[in-house]
Amino acid sequence: MTLLTWNPAWETGVQQIDEQHRQLLTQFEELLVAIHENHPEERIPGLLAFLSDYVETHFSTEEEHMKATRYPGLIGHKAIHDDMRAQVKQLVARYLEDQSIVSEGVLVFLSDWLIGHINDHDRRMASHLIRFNSWGS
Ligand SMILES: [Fe+2]
Ligand SMILES: [Fe+2]
Repeated sequence: MTLLTWNPAWETGVQQIDEQHRQLLTQFEELLVAIHENHPEERIPGLLAFLSDYVETHFSTEEEHMKATRYPGLIGHKAIHDDMRAQVKQLVARYLEDQSIVSEGVLVFLSDWLIGHINDHDRRMASHLIRFNSWGS
């Protein structure tokens, strides 16, 4: 099965954001493990609900930092977040009707999206935050 191991190369240098990214990847990994276990339906609803809430917490954290520092890329970055918010919401809603929707392929697609987003948009945002606030770990 696929395992999602956190890679230090994905760190952006903003500790709070890096910790949230690690937590999101851990949630994806726990979902993948649950799918491979015998009775995943006992654990998947709770894990999905947590993932959905945590995606919102994380995107809101980044958007608050972008607003507070007047990040010029805020509108584009938020639009990308909104698209992923909709995809995760749809996944959770469709799971109630069709449990097979939460498959390894879907989770790998979402986690690949997250890693790609971290290494592109989040990295650019983090450089701005560090310059603006002298943040960093
Ligand atoms: Fe992020
Ligand atoms: Fe982001």
